Amino acid sequence: MKVIITGGGGFLGFQLCKKLQQIGTLTGPSGEPEPIDEIVLFDAHFSETIQQGLFDDPTGSARGLSSSLDDGPNLSTSNQQGSFVEPTLLTRDITERDAVFDAIDGEDVSVFHLASMVSGECELDFDNALSVNLDGGRHVFEATRARGPKSRLVFASSIACFGGEAMPDTLTDSTKHWPQTTYGMTKSICEQLVNDYSRKSHFDGRSARLPTVIIRPGKPNAAASSWASGMFREPLSGEPCYLPVHRDQCHPMTGYRTVVDSLVALHDLDGKLLGNDRAVGLPAHTVTPNEAEFVVRQVGEERDFLPGLLVDEPDDRIQGIVNQWPTAVDGSRAAKLGLPEPPELNRIVSEYLEDFG
Ligand SMILES: NC(=O)c1ccc[n+]([C@@H]2O[C@H](COP(=O)([O-])OP(=O)(O)OC[C@H]3O[C@@H](n4cnc5c(N)ncnc54)[C@H](O)[C@@H]3O)[C@@H](O)[C@H]2O)c1
Repeated sequence: MKVIITGGGGFLGFQLCKKLQQIGTLTGPSGEPEPIDEIVLFDAHFSETIQQGLFDDPTGSARGLSSSLDDGPNLSTSNQQGSFVEPTLLTRDITERDAVFDAIDGEDVSVFHLASMVSGECELDFDNALSVNLDGGRHVFEATRARGPKSRLVFASSIACFGGEAMPDTLTDSTKHWPQTTYGMTKSICEQLVNDYSRKSHFDGRSARLPTVIIRPGKPNAAASSWASGMFREPLSGEPCYLPVHRDQCHPMTGYRTVVDSLVALHDLDGKLLGNDRAVGLPAHTVTPNEAEFVVRQVGEERDFLPGLLVDEPDDRIQGIVNQWPTAVDGSRAAKLGLPEPPELNRIVSEYLEDFG
């Protein structure tokens, strides 16, 4: 089967690609595990590391990767079938309908739709947010629909769907959507679209509603939640992290390995188990900067290095956005569906150091 990952040049899309290379199969339109013959990474931008032949090594030795912190996970390149699936990199924009239809072609197709403008960008650029996250999303959904009702699609949504005065302390899958940002609004609408395309049997869709994912390697990004990774990543590399929010700010977080495993598990799940509600909130830990500092310090002591400091630098714009966000997630529906739970925080930190340190 052919797998298309939109946003495949991004943090999670790239990790997902590696995972698919390792496992080598997904549940296909037949409902049975099928070998993955082709992976297409569709993205408006690929880092130089990816472009410079990251996937060129069929022996699986992942040459030259571990030294590159920007995008440099240690690539494991052979799948269970023993064959190496080298992804095709398509530098295209999801706002270009024809490009999306050209990529999502063939009879036996699965789509992971991860391409998106992030929260901070969407707040600054409403028009492009609608164009990329909504119009682009519709292109992906229509192209998948053209592949037939059994084609599976997994959409990466966000807890930014929630907010407002009525928001409970702990989110469940039945909490009212009341996004307080343009980003969250686009995610909420795409979730509804995935539900309705699935109800109409246009395709077999699922949405994973992600909490903030840690620890993103490389540089801070424009997401309003960028500090969540930064407060681990910068101290772990001996640098200070300038914290825009309160030290006791509660925020739901999970690890990237868990998210990638969840995307795959959600893809492979029998759609009947989801019923009409195709969007599943992923489990999360509620973490504060104080807790992050404690765990990083612990890891530093265990590994004999001195972490960088958390430096308070309040930012009213970021704090204002974060104030609208939920602080905890009840992931029990996901757990019942067999999706994985995140490991303890210190384990997430260790995994990050294994992959990117
Ligand atoms: N990382 C998180 O904490 C988090 C939390 C909730 C939801 N999500 C969602 O998960 C998905 C993946 O997140 P990520 O952390 O990998 O983000 P990312 O920013 O690293 O990756 C997104 C990718 O989308 C690409 N993209 C943006 N606009 C595009 C366009 N017009 N055409 C083609 N590609 C385009 C970007 O170039 C980028 O590579 C996104 O949809 C994001 O909204 C992420």
